[in-house]
This record gives sequence, structure tokens and C-alpha cells, in this order.
Amino acid sequence: MPRLCWWQFCARSQATDRVALREGATMVQVGTPPVWSRRRVDPAEAPGRTPWRTDHPLLGCDYNPEQWPREVWHEDVRLMREAGVELVAVNVFGWAEIQPAPDRLDFDRLDEVLDLLHEHGIGVNLGTGTASPPPWLTTAYPEVLPVAEDGTTRWPGGRQAWCPSSPVFRELSLALVDAVASRYGQHPGLRLWHVSNELGGHNSLCYCDVSAEAFRRWLRARYGDVAALNEAWGTSFWSQRYGSFEEVLPPRLTLSTPNPGQALDFHRFSSDELLAQHRAEAAAIRARSDVPVTTNLMVTAHQRDMDYWDWAPHLDVIANDHYLDHRLADPAAELAFCADLTRGLAQGRPWILMEHSTGAVNWQPVNIAKQPGELLRSSVAHLARGADALCFFQWRASRQGAEKFHSAMLPHAGTGSATWREVLELGRILRALPDLAGTQVSADVALVFSYENQWAADAPNRPSELVTHLQQVHQAYAALRAAGVGVDVVPPGAPLEDYRLVVVPHLYLVRDTEAAVLQDYVAAGGHVLVTFFSGIVDEDDRVHPGGYPGAFRDLLGVGVEEVHPLPEGVTLRLAGGTGGTVRRWTEQVRLTGARAHRLLGEGPLAGRPAVTVHEHGAGRAWYAAADLDPEAQRALVEEVLAGAGVQPEPGAGPLVEVVRRHAVGPGPDFLFVLNHGDRTVTVPARGTEVCTGTAVDPTLEVPAGAVRIVRLADEEPS
Ligand code: GAL
Repeated sequence: MPRLCWWQFCARSQATDRVALREGATMVQVGTPPVWSRRRVDPAEAPGRTPWRTDHPLLGCDYNPEQWPREVWHEDVRLMREAGVELVAVNVFGWAEIQPAPDRLDFDRLDEVLDLLHEHGIGVNLGTGTASPPPWLTTAYPEVLPVAEDGTTRWPGGRQAWCPSSPVFRELSLALVDAVASRYGQHPGLRLWHVSNELGGHNSLCYCDVSAEAFRRWLRARYGDVAALNEAWGTSFWSQRYGSFEEVLPPRLTLSTPNPGQALDFHRFSSDELLAQHRAEAAAIRARSDVPVTTNLMVTAHQRDMDYWDWAPHLDVIANDHYLDHRLADPAAELAFCADLTRGLAQGRPWILMEHSTGAVNWQPVNIAKQPGELLRSSVAHLARGADALCFFQWRASRQGAEKFHSAMLPHAGTGSATWREVLELGRILRALPDLAGTQVSADVALVFSYENQWAADAPNRPSELVTHLQQVHQAYAALRAAGVGVDVVPPGAPLEDYRLVVVPHLYLVRDTEAAVLQDYVAAGGHVLVTFFSGIVDEDDRVHPGGYPGAFRDLLGVGVEEVHPLPEGVTLRLAGGTGGTVRRWTEQVRLTGARAHRLLGEGPLAGRPAVTVHEHGAGRAWYAAADLDPEAQRALVEEVLAGAGVQPEPGAGPLVEVVRRHAVGPGPDFLFVLNHGDRTVTVPARGTEVCTGTAVDPTLEVPAGAVRIVRLADEEPS
């Protein structure tokens, strides 16, 4: 199989061309290929796109002046200046305001807001306003409303009540975008276009009749004829064979498990439909304006419906929204993973944190306030991992509406609050870092992550519902972070030659071309760590022949006769003196070239390998065939890292993040240290510490809970 290079990889996913790019089909190149490299990418190298640039890191926010009387706007811009706010998103939910009736546009207030911001030197991040249709629209065109899996309508009254495939919504939203872009496309304060808002946040999967028709069109384009669809979906099972595309429906609520191929394609289709909305809005803007265009992605644990590897090439700059999720075991590790994934989507270039919160959100079961110093730690964690702008939702806490108890830069308690003081402190730190913008992060370790895998691996009727794809990705990432190494997150099939180690957690769905990239990488001397139940199915969710781990059997030098998931609460000891347990998952492993590294110490598979290692070509392939407990996983990761020659950042550990941003060309490098622990830590560094303005040589002390950023001197202590 020929290897896909990165631009081909991106092209695979262009919404309208994905169909032509199923394995074995013709490759279609779309537009000018983006150049991908993990190291020192010139931000101007973005052919075909309008690059977004800033010469210093920016502080920003969402601003909803329509919720406030005019007098407040003047106080707002004064305080924004005091805080150092330079990028303000407006008109994100502005549709009802600027088009109060189908035949009336009213830009008076928005004109005033844009001019006011501009007069005060504040850049505008202008929403197209299409995030949520106004009531007149859904009253006149109820067919726009989305329909859930069970056939029930999702009514207006909240937000985002529109079907992604609706031609009516598309037409009316594009008319609005054209009006907004015509009016403001040349506004001197305009710095960025903000398409819609979190596309697919609530309406990603629509099962209405319009969506059904669009799904059929998408399937026709993908498969050409219904026989190919039958083949891909395996419809000879359960009497599901289709006689024509007209018989095909979205995977609406069924009595038993729906066809997995149908469900997988519906996910692909749904992601493509929302991307098409972004592309249509972006095209309407670009016809009127040269200002870069983006949309705020949701690279978070709870966004599973959009394949952002497909989306990324269509954004002039990658922008992400991230909120700490206290339902997860380790919210700070998840933040770091998301920031690294966002940088991966940005192909290593700087990106924008479009939304995060100063304190509690309002949509978790219990909304945890941030501890003193936590605002700085979470903001700076994004900065360290490549963000060149840090924006908050929202500027001023609302008095009414569904988000009145969501934190803001200016909370209900006003400027006398700790939140405001930390906001001012963050602004001060950003102003002290003018030369940070454009610097980049590089890593020796890549972690492979795929949205398609979440869809396929977490489908019903799998061996164990206790195992989920993201859980395994988070666990592997957390072990790497705890070991103190930097990680780039890459999609399957991405070029790997710059990395010393590639970690492949639970990569259930793998195309032969993607497996070949990994195989060649190891043959040429690379090291990989693959974790259990990887390489199992192809892109149609069809089991790779010859036994598990399918596409990775030769690479790993093992065969798996049967998987043995463990019931909830059951743990099994690993054999040998170094301790450790496994939970949730074990496999009956046969060695076919690999050697056993750790054995199961008890249970029906006692004495069988739990971890194996295979010398393959000039490289090494590790396999964790069981779900190791966090300590055992960390110990394994440390061993694998050492074998691959990856050095941890001195001083880094589970509670201490140490991350570097490197200059692209002349200029200083920066060292970020975030101390999440409760005691002072010391790391080697030489240069000037930015938060305190003090000289550092040869070590830096970071108090409990604090962040420190060192502008490194040319020569660091070794
Ligand atoms: C985001 C959304 C914002 C706001 C925020 C609250 O998902 O884009 O409009 O709702 O969440 O956390």
C-alpha cells in the first residue's frame, strides 16, 4: 500500500471528497495541500488560507452587549482596557438582534459596538450571528427544527435548534452572513471572523426526513451503487439487504442494535454536514472580506460527533473552547491532552483558545469554583501548549438567561473580586510576554487519536462497556504527562519519522494504509506502544482477517485467541516482583515473535503475557494486552520512554507540568512550569522569570499552586 502523506491525509477528509478516498479508491487532491511538520513551522506557510497572526499573545472574551443597556458598554470598554483585553467576540448569538424580522435588518447597535471597541483599540472577533435561529424563522419554517433519534422534534426556546442538512436554514443563514460580511468586511477593527458557534454542540445528529434524504445523497456519492453499500455495511446479516438507496434511513431508534456500518457512516455524514455549513459560511465571508475565518471547535471530552481532523484544513486558524470537566478523574490532564490535540489540529502552529472560564461553569451536575491560582494555572496551561490568544466566555456575567450562574471575567461580585484580580494578573503576564507569540512546542512522542475510533470502538455490543476509547486515550496521555514528556497528538496515518516514540491507545479501527505507516516507522527504527484491542477492524467496521490484533499482528509479534474482559471491580495481580494490577480487560495472548515482558499473576489467564515487546526491523513494538492500573501503566511508559531515548523535562511529574515553547528563528525560548501540587518545587532554568520579573540561575523555585514562565537565556544549564 502506498503511504499517505499529511496533505493526502487531509485531502482524504475534505467533506465532499471523502467518498472518493475509501481505501483502494482514487486519491483526489483538494486545494493546495497544507504543509505539515511538527517542528518550527513558519506561520505564513498556510497556502490557500488567510493566515492569522498576532505579534503578541492576546487576552480576549465573548461579549454580549445586547444583554446590557448602552451606559454599561462604556464601562465595559474602560474595564476591558484596564484588563488588557484586545480581542472581543460579538454578534455570536446576534441573529434575532440584527434581523428582527424576515424583511428587516437592523445594524444600528452592532455598528455602535464595533466602533466603540475599535475606538478603544480593541480588536473585533465578529460572529456571523448564525449560531441560533430567531423565533420568526422557526415559526415560518418549522421544517428547520432538528429531530432526535426517537422521532421527536427538538423545539426552539434553547439554542441551536436547526437541522444541519436543512436547505432552508442554509439559505437564510448564508443571506445573513452575506449581509454581515458586506457591512463589516472592511471594518478597521475587524481581526477575525467567528463562524456560528460550536457547530454541532447540540444539533450534531439530526434524524429528520430532510437529513434522511441528505444521508442518502451522501451514501450514493460514497458508494456509487447500493451493492457496495450492502457490502460495506454487511447487510446480509439480520435480513438487512437494501434494494435501493431509497430504502435507507438514518439510524433511528431501533428495537435492537442498529447496523454498526450504518451508524458509523451516519457519524461521518453528520460531521461532514456541519463542516459544510462552516465552509459555506466561510466562503460567503471570503467573497467580501480578507480577514481570517475560524470557528470555535470543542476539543473536549464531551464532543464526540465531529471529526476535527477533517475540519482543521478549512480553518484559517484553529480555535478551541475548553472547560475543565470535574466529572473526569483528572481534569488538568484532560485540559493538557485537549490543548495538545488542538495544537495537533493546528499542525503545530499557534492557535486560539476561544473560550474557557474564569471560574465555575453552569452545565455540570456540581459546578466547582476555581481555587485561588487555578484561573492562572488553567489559562497558562493552554498558553504553554501553543495558544497565542486566551479568551474567556464571557466578559460580564449575565443577569438573566440560562447562563446567569456561569462565571465571567467581570463576575456579579464586580471588580472587588478575586476573579477580577486574577484576570488583571493574567493580562499583566501576557503583556510581559510580547515575544512569546509565534513560538512553538515540539515533542519527541506522538499519541495517535482518531474521532472515527470513538464512533466505532464505543458502539453497542462490544466486548465490554467498561472500556471506552477516550478513557484509554486519557489514561495513556496521563501516564505520558506524569512521566514528564511532551506529546504531540496526531491522526492515524500521519508521518511519524520525527518522533522517537508513538503511542497508540486502543486504536480499534485501522485502515491498512494507516497500519502500514506504523509498521514502516518501526521497521525503520521507531518505537511504538500499542494498547489492547487495537487493529481490530477496517474502515467499514469489518474485522481484519486472521485473528487479533488484526492489522498489527505482524508488527506486535503476537496473536490473540480471545479477549477476556473483566467484570466491574475485579482486579488481577501482575506476576513478578514489581507489583501492579490489571482491571477491565485481559487477552489470551500467544507469542509469535514477541517476548513476554509482564505476565498475568492470577485469574484464568495466569501465566499468560499482559505486556509484550517485539523487536521489529530496526525498531521495537510494545503491546499492553491488558488495562494496566495507573501506576503499572506509568511504570511501563517510563520503561518504554527510556528504551526510545526520550528524556523527561527535569522536574516534571504528575503534579508539575514543564513545557517549552521554542522560537521559530531568532528569539528566546520559554519554559513554563505549572505547580498543581501543595509544595514548592525546583527546576533547573536560566533566564528571566516573567511573572515575578526576577533573574533565574541555575534553578527556578515554583511555589505550591503557582505558575512560572522563564524567558530562557541562550545557554541553559545542562
Ligand atoms: C460554550 C458556548 C458558550 C457558553 C459556554 C458556557 O459551549 O460556546 O456560548 O454557553 O459554553 O460554558
